[in-house]
Amino acid sequence: MTKRKANMIKVNNMSSEGITALVLGATGEVGKSLVQELLKNAAFSRIIVVGRRKLDLEDEKVENRIVDFEKLDEHKEAFQDAQVGFCCLGTTRGKAGAKGFVRVDRDYVSQSAKFLKEGGCSHFHLISSQGANKNSTFLYTKTKGETEDLVKEVGFPRLSIYRPALLLCDREESRPLEKIAQIVVRGFDWRNKISIPTYTVANAMVANTLDSQATVKSEETKVEIFENNDILRLGID
Ligand SMILES: NC(=O)c1ccc[n+]([C@@H]2O[C@H](COP(=O)([O-])OP(=O)(O)OC[C@H]3O[C@@H](n4cnc5c(N)ncnc54)[C@H](OP(=O)(O)O)[C@@H]3O)[C@@H](O)[C@H]2O)c1
Repeated sequence: MTKRKANMIKVNNMSSEGITALVLGATGEVGKSLVQELLKNAAFSRIIVVGRRKLDLEDEKVENRIVDFEKLDEHKEAFQDAQVGFCCLGTTRGKAGAKGFVRVDRDYVSQSAKFLKEGGCSHFHLISSQGANKNSTFLYTKTKGETEDLVKEVGFPRLSIYRPALLLCDREESRPLEKIAQIVVRGFDWRNKISIPTYTVANAMVANTLDSQATVKSEETKVEIFENNDILRLGID
């Protein structure tokens, strides 16, 4: 039996009720894949989806909680009950402008993390990005780095940060530049060094939740950072 399978069984045995997961950004590309993985996996008995709109999916395991992210203080109860939290939230500068991008990718994410911790969540998964660095001169990587630091300050017993490269998916929303990048990268990135399918990221997060041995790089004992290659190893294992 593989170590991962053994750990999955251990987690299953730990609680007859299974794990309650909470997903932020479940209507997005990584989020949708993640919810599908959580639905398939018997270790998860309940999936709470927190978002600004309902997820277009009916399943008895799924509970939608609608919030106004501009008034998160009024929605603290939406972040209750979860043992594990997954954050796939994010926007783009093109869509939201520079201020809007920072508001979503840094402020909404860090505030949600804080309320999740207060609500009893002990393991938080954050999708950040390749190159995240608070000292970067680029808004995107700087914001992602700042978000990582703010979420670390929340003090989860276990925090898993994922830094994927270019996401490969058939995106519903039109993003011409991303589409071009995906086509170019699909042509030569045969070992996925600079890209990764969204379903692999989702698989990796689920596998890591169930694998207590999965720590890759620790800045502190309870913080794990997964670069693109690490996510690939976890996600396609
Ligand atoms: N694209 C890439 O190549 C790439 C590479 C590395 C890292 N990342 C990061 O990976 C994460 C997931 O990416 P993705 O492509 O799966 O994201 P996505 O498809 O754009 O989905 C983003 C999610 O965030 C929500 N959201 C966006 N703006 C919001 C707002 N103003 N208020 C409330 N919710 C909002 C969306 O909700 P609605 O459905 O309601 O809009 C959706 O659920 C992001 O943090 C992204 O920065 C992306």
